[in-house]
This record gives sequence, C-alpha cells and structure tokens, in this order.
Amino acid sequence: MQTLVLKGEEALKKGAELIRAGEVVAFPTETVYGLGADAFNEVAVRKIFEAKGRPSDNPLIVHIADEKGLEGLVSDVSDSAEAIMKKFMPGPITVIMKKGEKVPLSVTAGLDTVGIRMPSNAVSREFIRECGTPIAAPSANRSTHISPTNAEHVFEDMDGRIPLIIDGGESEVGIESTIVDASTDVPTILRPGAITAEMLAEVLGAVRTFSGKVVVAKAPGMKYKHYAPSCETVVAIGAESATKAYDDAENKGLSPVVIARSSTCAKLGGRTHIDLGESDVEICRNIYAALHRGEKIANFIVCEHFGNEGVCGSVMNRVMKSAGGKTV
Ligand code: TXA
Ligand code: MG
Repeated sequence: MQTLVLKGEEALKKGAELIRAGEVVAFPTETVYGLGADAFNEVAVRKIFEAKGRPSDNPLIVHIADEKGLEGLVSDVSDSAEAIMKKFMPGPITVIMKKGEKVPLSVTAGLDTVGIRMPSNAVSREFIRECGTPIAAPSANRSTHISPTNAEHVFEDMDGRIPLIIDGGESEVGIESTIVDASTDVPTILRPGAITAEMLAEVLGAVRTFSGKVVVAKAPGMKYKHYAPSCETVVAIGAESATKAYDDAENKGLSPVVIARSSTCAKLGGRTHIDLGESDVEICRNIYAALHRGEKIANFIVCEHFGNEGVCGSVMNRVMKSAGGKTV
C-alpha cells in the first residue's frame, strides 16, 4: 500500500473519504499524531490494531469535535466528567466515562468504559467534523516505539501500512493527553500530561494520582513497554552525571548523545547533544522529536532528569519508560 502525505483542504477531504470507506488515516493533534478510524466501524477499528501491531486488549480513546459528538458514545456523564469537560475541553485531556451501547467492544477492549478526547488542534477538529463520526485513535507509532509529533515521524513507522497521513506540522504540546478516570467516585489520573494533578484538583477538589506498581492495570496500556527508542537510553541527574555516562559509553566504543535543557547543554564541553530549550513547555514540546533524532544520530542516549514538578513530572513519566527505568 502506498502511503500519501498531504496537507490542507485536499488532505482533509481525502482523509474523510477514507474514514467513511472504513480505512485508517493518521492525523495531527496538539499532543501527538493519532491513527484514526470510524469509532462505530468494528472492521475499521481492527485495522488500527493491525497497522500499529497493538495488542487487542489495549483499548483506544475516541476523539470528538464538539459536545454533540458525545451522542451514543457514553451512557453517563458524572459531575466530575462534566466539570473537567467544561474547564479543559477542547484540550490535551482524555476523560474515561461509562460507555454507550453503540461503541464496539474492539474500541474499549471489552471494558464498560470509554476514553473521550476533544482535541484543540484546528486541523484535528476540522478533520473529525468532516468525517461526521467520532474517531477512535491511539498514537500513530508502531506499538512500543516513540510517539510521533510530526508527519515525518508517522511516515517512518507507518509507511506502507496506511493510505494517508494528514500533515499538520509539529504537535504543540508534545506528549500524550492526561487521562482521568471520571467514572469512579474520586476521579483518578491514569496517565499524567500537560494538564497536571494540581490543575485538576483546582476544579475537582480531589483527584487521585496513579502511582506505584501496576497491580491491576487500570489503563491497560501501562503494563506494556512504551516510548522506547531503538537504542539503549539512560536518565542522568545533572550535567556531571550526564557527562560521565556519555564518556563511559564512548569509551565502550558507542556513539552517545545527551538530550538536555539549554543550560545543561552549555555545561557538556562540546559533547554531542540535542537542546530541548529551557522552559518546561519547550521541554515537553520537543522531547519526542529529540528521542526520534537521538536514535538516528547515536546508539546510546543519555537524557537529563527534568524533575518531578508539574509538566516536567509528566515528561519524566515518559522518559523513565523510554529508559526502562535506568538512572545513572
Ligand atoms: O494525546 C493522546 O491521548 C493521543 C492522541 C492521538 O489523542 N492518543 C493516545 O492514545 O495517546 P494511546 O492509545 O496511545 O493511549 C491511550 C491510553 C492507553 O494506555 C489505553 O490503555 C488507555 O489510554 N485507555 C483507553 N481507554 C481506556 C479505558 N476505557 N480505561 C482505561 N484506560 C484506557
Ligand atoms: Mg501510545
């Protein structure tokens, strides 16, 4: 299958045609690129799992353009779900609610809940509107690989596997949406993101963060390997340990690269590095592109630890998985 990469009106028109014909189309969102299909079409949804190589027990979230899109998708909107939607949608958040009858079990992997997301990205909203149906979509990477934040990343993973990638430029946020389960009494964060626990607590009063070991996997995806570059990756605390990890790797004959914020890069004595910028927002926006680039130009990645506060905490949630938990 030939994979087209298109932009603008032409891309949206062609994309919507393909979705209505039961095909899979990659599209941009403000978090990462998604791999979409008609959420009400069981056969189309199965093609997503095939293209990604995703285990079928890992549910998909469903994307809508506006509140009308909720019709048929959910059977109950709890007070907390309502409050989250009012404050944060459209935006980088996914809310888990009780599922409606029309949603195929292949979307929810047999669960009685469904994740709902309303992206703020203009292209995704236009695309979903044009399709005229809710769009089930995971991130548009091959299963276990780094999530894509531009059309080129998607092409590298999906060339020959899907008919179309809608190119909408770089994703502004850079990591996947915050996932909140609002189907339980106390809403629970299942995946941290740019909308932080502190921001949610302001609206909800209380929100539980999901931490510690996954005993019964709540977000089924959490038990799988994730965000992994093709080469060994470690996390370093501070410029000094990053430098040491780099030199150790080089002494072993590897070609290392450091991924760090600007002020840390300045302390690396000219060692190969990828500069993410200085602010939390820049670090979040650029981290996946840096991991993609890192695995291309090097065979050993040293990534700085950005701390566990706010958005950086969400970034580290991903980076620690990329590194398989390995800190130096
Ligand atoms: O930002 C995002 O959320 C991106 C863009 C494309 O919207 N999508 C995304 O999808 O990250 P995915 O499939 O890569 O991650 C969704 C996560 C998975 O870990 C899945 O297990 C979990 O959400 N999930 C989906 N439905 C769920 C449900 N009903 N209950 C609990 N977890 C659920
Ligand atoms: Mg994903």
